[in-house]
Amino acid sequence: MDHGDRIEDALKAALVRVTADRCPPKLASALDYALFPGGARVRPRLCLAVAAACGDDAPQLADAAASSIELLHCASLIHDDLPCFDDAETRRGKPSVHRAYGEPLAVLAGDALIVAAFETLGLGIAIDCRRSAGLISIVARAVGGPTGIVAGQAWECEDSIPMDEYHQAKTGSLFSAATMAGALAAGAEPEQWRTLGERLGESYQIADDICDLVADPGERGKPIGRDRDLGRPNAAGALGVSGALGRLRALLEEAVASVPDCPGKAALSEHILTSAQPYLPKQISRVAA
Ligand code: FPP
Ligand code: MG
Repeated sequence: MDHGDRIEDALKAALVRVTADRCPPKLASALDYALFPGGARVRPRLCLAVAAACGDDAPQLADAAASSIELLHCASLIHDDLPCFDDAETRRGKPSVHRAYGEPLAVLAGDALIVAAFETLGLGIAIDCRRSAGLISIVARAVGGPTGIVAGQAWECEDSIPMDEYHQAKTGSLFSAATMAGALAAGAEPEQWRTLGERLGESYQIADDICDLVADPGERGKPIGRDRDLGRPNAAGALGVSGALGRLRALLEEAVASVPDCPGKAALSEHILTSAQPYLPKQISRVAA
């Protein structure tokens, strides 16, 4: 089955588990709204691409890993958009969850998605206990403290923000979880896949920073200029747009070079290079192509 379909099916199955039976209807609706239609599903696609490169001998585990990472990503976006953080009106081209459903349901929808992610991974124990234990640990460390996305967000509460550590925790950690979990789901040694996730996470962050400076708001589906307005580190602000593009290209080359030997190395390298294009604003991806 196509990777996109596998991801959507696994997310739908998770949504059914969370909203079945007597779930309060507004919470069920907010969860559906937060998950569908999704964005580019960059992280779960990366997870499945790595699993495929490693042989994908337990696709149900790979689907669980990929969908748990997307559930956590969606949870983090709901919370990130709240008034106490970025106070964003829009996300993926529609009102943010708290704008559509109110703050209490947005907080609860994020909470429910976090729990759903770990329930999804827990269900994998019936398939392979050892791999599932490792997957739970990889994903938990990418999300919580001391260096996961919660820690990354918490840097924004400090008086000064170290840009590299901040971006690695806030963005890179979930990309590393995607590559490492994809590998482990297919029975490969996960640690060898960390560098690929780190380089891709950094390149995604640089692309996001470029977009935050120069993209068209309609194309992006979320506000632009937020880093400047909120006093956040922005790599394109620090390096200039062409400097940031140069760094992005170098990171993608390093990402490809870091791919460990595996049966699907060539196809994965191709995936890495083509999947970066949609990150960029259209006028730049035409120039950078
Ligand atoms: C988007 O960054 C936000 C994140 C990458 C992480 C946000 C993390 C939290 C709110 C911590 C809570 C975590 C969970 C799992 C609920 P951005 O504001 O730079 O990007 P944007 O332009 O897409 O908003
Ligand atoms: Mg934000």
